[in-house]
Amino acid sequence: MSVPFILDTDTAQDDCVAILLGILDPVADLRAVTMVAGNVGFDQQVANAMMTLSVAGALGDYPVYLGCRRPMVREWVSAENVHGDGAGGLSMDMDGLSPESEHAVDALLRLTAESPGELNIVAIGPLTNIAMAVVKDPSFPSRVKHLFIMGGSNNARGNITAAAEFNFYVDPDAAKIVFQAGFEITVVPWEPLTVQDALFTREQMAEIGSQPSPVARFFGQVCEATLEFDESVGIHGSTHPDSLTVAVMLHPELVTKSAPYSVDIEADSELTRGYSAMSWGIHDLRPNARVIEAVDGPAFFEYVKGHMATATEPSRPLLGLAP
Ligand code: RIB
Ligand code: CA
Repeated sequence: MSVPFILDTDTAQDDCVAILLGILDPVADLRAVTMVAGNVGFDQQVANAMMTLSVAGALGDYPVYLGCRRPMVREWVSAENVHGDGAGGLSMDMDGLSPESEHAVDALLRLTAESPGELNIVAIGPLTNIAMAVVKDPSFPSRVKHLFIMGGSNNARGNITAAAEFNFYVDPDAAKIVFQAGFEITVVPWEPLTVQDALFTREQMAEIGSQPSPVARFFGQVCEATLEFDESVGIHGSTHPDSLTVAVMLHPELVTKSAPYSVDIEADSELTRGYSAMSWGIHDLRPNARVIEAVDGPAFFEYVKGHMATATEPSRPLLGLAP
């Protein structure tokens, strides 16, 4: 049975892989891509999403809605030091390509109103669009089947600060609203899960990237900057939290350990801004999310590798893509 969902993304590097899985996995029924401010400049993110659709031969097949260009109350914080342009220097002729005119927040509200209780949302960037939809219409959570969130760390190290993971750090106010809004939530955290089970070594990256398909070459080029960044901070490979979040929704059998938690986000302190307090059941707090604690890492690697081997005919040429 196919899984209908909306992908909310700050498209750069692993967000591109997540989009590809959402298109190439036959189980996936991607209804819309919504864009939110996060990793790199907003317009670059839109270009990255378009290039990703193009390499999959799917340009024009999926509506792309532009959402919030900055966090709810704070200045945007970039991760360009991690991702570069987020697309490995690739470019594409964007002539005649136009995203939908409807705002992403309105699209989220409308699409879920048209199919109440049927659509999942996978949020792999800061939670600004999702929180804005809640602010605009508090009944929004009741219409979403399940919200899969990549963000936070499970009482462990952050990646942008010692305390915080990037997506929650960028818009902690939005994250706080979302966890208090009444969604059915699954969280894919950064530490320890991603660094433990969604880490591909340089050898594994070469194994995926050397497959004879445009998608595989795209994967290799797009992920190179982050692989180098991860290695420079002592992580021995390339991290794939966003694609893991899509995979966990489409293939729950990948999950080997999860538990109910009460999750709240620090939005007042500067020192611990975006910290996710994940209470595991002994503090008398009502659980509001399922947190993934472990997945089958080798199976996840084979899953990504398999889909990156898909033969596609890119919709438009990608300039700079290795032959
Ligand atoms: O912290 C990991 C998250 O921020 C991912 O969504 C990735 O896109 C990133 O920069
Ligand atoms: Ca992301």
